[in-house]
Amino acid sequence: MAINKQEHAQWSSSFGFVLAAVGSAVGLGNIWKFPYMVGESGGSAFVIAYLFCIALVGFPILVAEWLIGRRGQKNPVNTFADVAASEGKSRSWGIIGASGILGGFLILSFYSVIGGWALNYITKAGTGSFIGQDSDSIAATFDAMLASAGTLTIWHTVFMAITALIVGIGVTKGIETTAKVLMPLLGVILFVIVGYNVINGGFGEAVAYLFTPDLSKLTGDVMLAALGHAFFTLSIGMGIMIAYGSYLGREVNLLKTARTVVILDTVIALAAGLAIFPIIFSNGLDPASGPGLIFVSLPIAFGSMGAGTIIGTLFFLLITFAAITSSISLLEPTVEFLEERTPMSRTVSTIVASTVIWLLGVAALLSFN
Ligand code: PFF
Repeated sequence: MAINKQEHAQWSSSFGFVLAAVGSAVGLGNIWKFPYMVGESGGSAFVIAYLFCIALVGFPILVAEWLIGRRGQKNPVNTFADVAASEGKSRSWGIIGASGILGGFLILSFYSVIGGWALNYITKAGTGSFIGQDSDSIAATFDAMLASAGTLTIWHTVFMAITALIVGIGVTKGIETTAKVLMPLLGVILFVIVGYNVINGGFGEAVAYLFTPDLSKLTGDVMLAALGHAFFTLSIGMGIMIAYGSYLGREVNLLKTARTVVILDTVIALAAGLAIFPIIFSNGLDPASGPGLIFVSLPIAFGSMGAGTIIGTLFFLLITFAAITSSISLLEPTVEFLEERTPMSRTVSTIVASTVIWLLGVAALLSFN
């Protein structure tokens, strides 16, 4: 049974909600995963499959999750149970909400570890440690980070602490305000890096790579990878958009809002491609180098190009901002659930949830070494 300790929070404006939802959607998925999946899965074939999945599958599910959340006005477990009960169906539908919460919980444990890599790389890029290094020593730097449980733990802890602090502050003052500050900054940084690439070469090659249709590479595996990525990038299937929808008022037009979120998420993923691939091509690097693409290939380029320290630092700031606005959304459903279903306050719920996630993250990072 829900314990009603206070009024259920509400976004302070629909603009704040849009930014928070875009903040959740735009994350490591756009800037780390999308470019390397494009590289691994046949360039434009993946892009076409991805656009198709976003429009035909992602968009309707996003609207559906907000609708369910807004109708329930509670955490995802209670929302599913209440909405089902009000239609004369079993309250066991709450299990679907619980599985979503658990999914977000598990994703955050490794998401925070990778967010920690990005934080660590801000300091590396900012102190000029890539300058003059050859590809072997930059690859060795990345391997040394993965091999050091201590380094990984420190940065994972810092990242998780930032996430917990923001969520602990609350929905409007914490989550919404963070999105209002970080998302515009993210847009500016992305614009600067893409602009730098337009001037410094490799841009035409990157555009061709991303957008020249090559349907021969459009296999079932590529379709499946694109579908999975569509869910991940829009933050759907995890109860997150249901939790965010629960803070919505009736006046918000969900179709229009979903259109904005989907378009911004997609534009930012493609812009991330245009921020990364020109640097890869103009430095003669391999676009298909997998998860190491931005942590190994790009630093090689940052080390050898003019303005590499500035562009590199901006780039890792960009990923970190994107990761933070997503990680807070991954923590929110669990905190909302604990706050509503136990006697714990929001602060205590946040501390408990983030400590357990932090521990799972430590277990995940130990698997690297
Ligand atoms: N959408 C985020 C990204 O693209 O990085 C990650 C994410 C957030 C996935 C929330 C799933 C989720 F429920």
